[in-house]
Amino acid sequence: MTMNAQSLALPSVSVIVPTYQEVDNIPLLVDRIAQVREEHNLDLELLIMDDDSGDGTEEVVDGLGKSWVRLVVRKDNRGLSPAVVDGMRLAKNDVLVCMDADLSHPPEVIPDLLEALTQDYDFAIGSRYVEEGSTDESWSFFRRLNSRVATLLALPLTRVKDPLSGFFALRRELFESAHALNPIGYKIGLELIVKTGSEFIKEVPIHFSERKLGESKLTFAEQVRYLQHLKRLFIYSYGNGAYLLLFVLVAVLGAVVNLTVLTALHVLRIPLPFAVGFAVPAGTLVSLALNRRITFSYVVEKPVLQQLLGFVGAGVVGGVLNFAVNMFLINQWIGFEGVPQLAALAGIVAEMMVDFGMLRFVAFREPARRCATK
Ligand code: GDD
Ligand code: MN
Repeated sequence: MTMNAQSLALPSVSVIVPTYQEVDNIPLLVDRIAQVREEHNLDLELLIMDDDSGDGTEEVVDGLGKSWVRLVVRKDNRGLSPAVVDGMRLAKNDVLVCMDADLSHPPEVIPDLLEALTQDYDFAIGSRYVEEGSTDESWSFFRRLNSRVATLLALPLTRVKDPLSGFFALRRELFESAHALNPIGYKIGLELIVKTGSEFIKEVPIHFSERKLGESKLTFAEQVRYLQHLKRLFIYSYGNGAYLLLFVLVAVLGAVVNLTVLTALHVLRIPLPFAVGFAVPAGTLVSLALNRRITFSYVVEKPVLQQLLGFVGAGVVGGVLNFAVNMFLINQWIGFEGVPQLAALAGIVAEMMVDFGMLRFVAFREPARRCATK
């Protein structure tokens, strides 16, 4: 790493800011970054990665007349994360910082992030959830909860307290070592933490303020995309374990359907072989359909015939086994006749193991760890 002699050994830095319709915020942001730049004598370039906002952003940046501020207008592959990755690839300096344009992230913390990177860390985060960090007072209970749940979901991927803050710095070499970057949606910081495998992450407290100008682009669709992103990262980190986890989550829904149908028919005094005979295919159908969309979504690109054979095959073999286990238990131990749901549960567990094995390892083999992108 080359140190900038006059900057008290703080490394040179490229600040990357993704923007979409932030024309009002840009002058304020540049102003505050300019102050930090001067005060700390930083070798700092600012890359504004704008997705062709068409709101006068270009004129405003031109008007600022700052040689260290560069605007890149992007027309393809739009989105926050791809914009940041493009910016990091264009950046020239030793440390890459990512932050929002709306002044939620205080530029004054940049030197602290850089400071951390001159010590033993290769990744630094402006964190809301460490001691002395905070979020804007105006955040509603629901927004706080939403943020906490989203953060909790990422816990199996990293022990960092605020991997979703959106304000972070990393060394260029670390970025370049990132494996199979596949950014979708908003959470480029989490993507980089996982794909660089960084273990030396420093969290610096920040106060996350609410934007004063312009509007947030974080939509409901973006939150759904976060779940898809999480799924990819789980598969990347845990391979078959992640597939099994998703499969079990889906199977729980199938089990609910199975048990509901069984209970209803049993209450209506339908003979057990018939009740079980309806409940098992109902649960199997629901769970296989959901597995096709969620757990094994990569199969939708395979030939339809292969999909049909795979799911029908697994459904028939698993379903027959499930039915047989039910009948065996009901016939063997009179007790199950009173509570057929217990036999149903045993059948479901047996079917799940067979279905998972057949789907994942026979019908739809797919390279798992470190290759999966879906
Ligand atoms: N280039 C580009 N393309 N930039 C975008 C896009 C896009 O499609 N969508 C949003 N941005 C830019 C915005 O202009 C802003 O500078 C930044 O990305 C964050 O967008 P906001 O709309 O302000 O998002 P937010 O405040 O809801 O979310 C931020 O805070 C979250 C934590 O509460 C982001 O930093 C999230 O990553 C973070 O998790
Ligand atoms: Mn914002």
